[in-house]
Amino acid sequence: MTNVVLVEETPTVAEYISLRQAMGWGTIDEATARRTLDGACFSACLRCEGRLVGLVRAIGDGCLYFAVSDVMVSSELRGGGHGATLLNALGEYLRRAAKPGASITLQPLVGREPFYEKFGWVRCPGGPFGSGMVFKDAPPPIDGQFV
Ligand SMILES: CC(C)(COP(=O)(O)OP(=O)(O)OC[C@H]1O[C@@H](n2cnc3c(N)ncnc32)[C@H](O)[C@@H]1OP(=O)(O)O)[C@@H](O)C(=O)NCCC(=O)NCCS
Repeated sequence: MTNVVLVEETPTVAEYISLRQAMGWGTIDEATARRTLDGACFSACLRCEGRLVGLVRAIGDGCLYFAVSDVMVSSELRGGGHGATLLNALGEYLRRAAKPGASITLQPLVGREPFYEKFGWVRCPGGPFGSGMVFKDAPPPIDGQFV
């Protein structure tokens, strides 16, 4: 049986680069990895015998503004409830950290909306918010694409 544990911690730079690569999201340099890892207000890792096999993070100020990033489960472990473990941990964090009036957002990849809807996320437009927007000049990943 696979023994996967959730640990609320930041992954190492090398682990993070490697997991993103495994997702097919391209290769980032170490300085970029360090900076984004340090920019998170919440990080939780899934580990299997010490190896990083999943991750969820929230970027933001930890009180009013949160942007969810890097929801990842290694391909060989998908369909086993580990994504649910990550989203439940994220939800617990957001419920305890967010102050009145907080903006808590995520930008799902195409087709992932039904996954997030299982864990308390709703599509935009919703509540006081419009459709959601992305900056069209965002640089694409190096040697990868979001899939
Ligand atoms: C999306 C991802 C994190 C899901 O992880 P997982 O471990 O397979 O998810 P779980 O097994 O915990 O599934 C939890 C529930 O979500 C559902 N689900 C999982 N992936 C889904 C998807 N892509 N679309 C719709 N529902 C999905 C499962 O059927 C399950 O539903 P159930 O409880 O009714 O049976 C994983 O497939 C992944 O890492 N994908 C590549 C990276 C990615 O796309 N990340 C999200 C970027 S927006």
